[in-house]
Amino acid sequence: MVKSQPIPIRAGLYIGLMSGTSVDGIDAAIVRLRSAGDGLKASVLAHHQQAWPPELRKRLLAVMAPAKTATAEICELNMLTAREFAGTVNNIVQKAGVDKSKIIAIGSHGQTICHLPPSSPLRSGSTLQIGDNTVIAAMTGICTVGNFRPADMALGGQGAPLVPLVDKLLLTHSKRTRCIQNLGGIANVTYLPPRGATREIMAFDTGPANMLMDAFVTLSTGGRMTYDKDGRLAAAGRIYKPLMRKLEAMPYFHLAPPKSTGRELFGEPLARAMMKQFRNVSCPDLLATALELTAWSITECYRGYLPQPPQEVILCGGGADNPVLVDRLRTYLTILQCYQVRNISEYGIISQAKEALSFAVLAALTLQRIAGNIPAATGAQYPVVLGSVATPTAGRKQS
Ligand SMILES: Nc1ncnc2c1ncn2[C@@H]1O[C@H](COP(=O)(O)OP(=O)(O)O)[C@@H](O)[C@H]1O
Ligand SMILES: [Mg+2]
Repeated sequence: MVKSQPIPIRAGLYIGLMSGTSVDGIDAAIVRLRSAGDGLKASVLAHHQQAWPPELRKRLLAVMAPAKTATAEICELNMLTAREFAGTVNNIVQKAGVDKSKIIAIGSHGQTICHLPPSSPLRSGSTLQIGDNTVIAAMTGICTVGNFRPADMALGGQGAPLVPLVDKLLLTHSKRTRCIQNLGGIANVTYLPPRGATREIMAFDTGPANMLMDAFVTLSTGGRMTYDKDGRLAAAGRIYKPLMRKLEAMPYFHLAPPKSTGRELFGEPLARAMMKQFRNVSCPDLLATALELTAWSITECYRGYLPQPPQEVILCGGGADNPVLVDRLRTYLTILQCYQVRNISEYGIISQAKEALSFAVLAALTLQRIAGNIPAATGAQYPVVLGSVATPTAGRKQS
């Protein structure tokens, strides 16, 4: 038997920082990492969620809208978001009582404000995550890795999803095929063949998870609610068939991977257009339909694009806390004879901390010059070391 090579990361403490397409808040996780066999072991020591200050969230959402934005606004938001990220780090470190000098690095995803995947031959890809990592390094005194997506795009990739290698290193099973299904604003899946299998890992965005539901509820309530807590409204609604048919027909669902998406396709403009076209549909019915779309599109993608249905599906992200969505997904997956649907917490990982944890792992890989993308997932020409490293000034007062 060939002895497996350990992953040569520096063992110790890292911090992962993430704010996803939902723009609900910053997730921070303090993570202990070490290599184990041909994978990694990660334990989350602390997890902290910090909501974006409402005014800043409003400005972030405005800058993501298709209307033209002044460059000065992006410039300032790049700084302000970095300050929030740094503040979140300082808070979690203090709360957890961890000595800052023991943290090897921060991996910060930043806040995506625009994601335009390549659509050859017309458009080469571009993506922009703000929250400058040099500012985070300066304000925390901790080495900070950021800007994870552009290098993959430079090689023709989608720049997303970037968690598949992390999923592979942390969650590959010896015998079973697994799907790690993240339910954030967008839903993304990593298909993991058993350890040692010759089949390649696959990963892509299946479509919206919460994004369209969040947009419907925000618009219907004039911003009083930003999400449908525990799916209560959706549970009271009925699927509105004409709307469902319209959404199902969207080309994204019928596109083979690699593929990635974001607010550009499934955000507020889509919700507005649908509410205009289907004027008399109630908020609960809009939500029931959007929830159905999420469960349907995930299952359709498994059926259409995976080499075989997974034996186990592991859910993470905010949508994994929505019991109505999880139930519906379970029912759909039964059609594929996939009966094992579990929350990632059963594997020792806090569901909402999973993405932050992933960027801590990617930082550890980058520091050792280990490539962090999987070309089969992103479509890049080859594996590449992701991100840029900002080193803090030594010997200064740290906030
Ligand atoms: N208890 C809950 N019930 C229903 N939806 C929830 C619940 N908790 C979180 N969510 C959904 O999860 C979203 C945030 O998930 P998250 O994984 O942070 O996504 P992102 O990575 O896009 O920020 C919220 O916007 C909301 O729609
Ligand atoms: Mg979030």
